[in-house]
Amino acid sequence: MNEHGLKMVELDRQVDEEDNLGFFTKEFFEAQMEVVIEEKVPVYAAGLGNPAPWMERLRANGTKVMTVVGAVRHTVKVSSAGVDAIVAQGHDAGGHNSPVGSMALIPQVVDAANGTPVLGAGGISDGRGIAAAFMLGAEGAWIGSAFLASEEADIFDHQKQAIIDSTEEGTVISRSVTGKPARIIRSAWTDFWERSELDPLPMPFQSGVAGPVLQSANKDQRQDINPGFAGQGIGMIKSVRPAEEIMADLIEGMERTLKDSANMYD
Ligand SMILES: Cc1cc2nc3c(=O)[nH]c(=O)nc-3n(C[C@H](O)[C@H](O)[C@H](O)COP(=O)(O)O)c2cc1C
Repeated sequence: MNEHGLKMVELDRQVDEEDNLGFFTKEFFEAQMEVVIEEKVPVYAAGLGNPAPWMERLRANGTKVMTVVGAVRHTVKVSSAGVDAIVAQGHDAGGHNSPVGSMALIPQVVDAANGTPVLGAGGISDGRGIAAAFMLGAEGAWIGSAFLASEEADIFDHQKQAIIDSTEEGTVISRSVTGKPARIIRSAWTDFWERSELDPLPMPFQSGVAGPVLQSANKDQRQDINPGFAGQGIGMIKSVRPAEEIMADLIEGMERTLKDSANMYD
């Protein structure tokens, strides 16, 4: 913080000593699940983990359950837990992802899913990517980064600008934010951890180290320090647009690609 002239700010997530819910702990996630169940949410998507222990209560509420996986062994577990859809999210994806690239992962998850519908994810930023996911056996696509550069996305303007400024080479896998490997836009913060001899703390503790720095960087709109998580598809993103327009383009591009591919062997 000294090196980059950042000042301490009041954290928007305070550690509650009594119930220990300040960090991403087991207790924190269990308390979140109680809310998901109490609110009878229509769709629940699990990121890091297997929702098997919650399935009975989610089912009783009529909640549709999706799970993000990064390996065949995860697929086998969640499909036998009876989830409604599986997201095969590869190494190209923004955030915590798989060591396996999307192109190789998606068909292998489809093969292991035992009939559970699969959505392909990771690096899909235009309609060609959705068409490719279909070709790999998926029944749909799950897209994150392309919607970050939307008017509606609840991220900072400096982070939207970082996406527009970035190329396909602009992201790295780093443990510097949460303690688990995640794809993030390269920054002074990721560079610092790469250069240093220090090993980031395991999840959830690294968030306690990163939080004050990244929040202070946000206050000063420092895209060079906290540009945020994003996937390798951001090289395709050239401006901030309404989500409706992004969606219309994705669908139009997918339809065009699928029609063109049908003529490929004429
Ligand atoms: C800023 C950001 C935050 C994310 N946070 C989560 C999360 O909290 N839980 C989760 O399961 N996936 C999370 N993801 C991953 C997405 O669910 C999705 O799989 C990913 O964005 C797909 O790849 P793409 O970014 O290349 O489209 C996040 C992704 C981004 C870019």
